[in-house]
Amino acid sequence: MIKGETKIAKLKLPKIGLGTMQGNSKKSKQGFIKGFEIGFRFLDTAQMYFNERVVGEAIKESGIPRDEFIVATKLFVNNLSPRKVFKSTERSLKRLGLETIDMLYIHWPFRFHKIGGDTLKAMSKLVDQGKIRSIAVSNFTPQHVDEAISICDKPIIANQVEMHPWLQQKELVAHHKKKGVYVVPYFPLMHGRFNDVPELVELGKKHNVSAAQISLAWLIKKGTVPIPKSVNPVHLKANWESQNIKLSSKDIKLIDSIEKEKRFLSPPLIAPKW
Ligand SMILES: NC(=O)c1ccc[n+]([C@@H]2O[C@H](COP(=O)([O-])OP(=O)(O)OC[C@H]3O[C@@H](n4cnc5c(N)ncnc54)[C@H](OP(=O)(O)O)[C@@H]3O)[C@@H](O)[C@H]2O)c1
Repeated sequence: MIKGETKIAKLKLPKIGLGTMQGNSKKSKQGFIKGFEIGFRFLDTAQMYFNERVVGEAIKESGIPRDEFIVATKLFVNNLSPRKVFKSTERSLKRLGLETIDMLYIHWPFRFHKIGGDTLKAMSKLVDQGKIRSIAVSNFTPQHVDEAISICDKPIIANQVEMHPWLQQKELVAHHKKKGVYVVPYFPLMHGRFNDVPELVELGKKHNVSAAQISLAWLIKKGTVPIPKSVNPVHLKANWESQNIKLSSKDIKLIDSIEKEKRFLSPPLIAPKW
């Protein structure tokens, strides 16, 4: 088999997904189900969020067929040795109540240069065993992604990174487009700070939508797949509908030209040198 080729068809992601971080209550479960009713099918959880069980219950209780969902979870930073990749993935499957995880991410490239090859080999084996459908990474720099592609015998389908109008990731987006790797922006709503961006507020007024929706519409227009988090029915609907906002090239340029840069998340012990 040619390097990068796979027996498993590459996943096709929808335009927008649903973040679930900090959602591990009964109320969150109801919120997720509401999100599914609105249309969300691409779900983002992680071992680190301690909510895989709630996400799995929401899927089951929604009554929507399992195969309509793309369920993504992430290996916690201390589960990257091959033994822990296998063991912790089994535990994630059990908590989610699923037979297969659609996308398994490496959450952070922590110690990637030391053990990344072994981690990816173990993940590749999980694909062969049918426990996961695809391999993804998160918080990887373009250099890390190149390295992962060169090591792994399966495609690296996505890189989940912080991305929003104050952290536009232009170089990374161009790089990943060339390599056929999806960019999945986290904090697409700047963790709630979208109203602090005058350009988003201005365009929201112009299109008669919220600044939050403009941020999502811009990310979608960039060809990325944002995963906003909400369990509020009004926000869920607004986020879903942001797919339909038609931004003009002038609107896009206005956001592209924002010079302010702010990264909200960079945990000192595990973040790479960006
Ligand atoms: N890979 C990683 O390292 C990493 C790191 C962080 C996050 N993530 C993923 O990314 C997801 C998104 O990140 P996040 O939840 O922290 O930040 P976010 O999606 O950027 O922002 C969420 C905030 O925006 C509010 N909100 C959502 N929709 C809104 C709307 N239409 N109008 C007004 N307010 C709205 C939410 O409040 P309400 O709840 O009131 O709607 C919440 O306060 C996470 O859930 C997680 O799945 C991944």
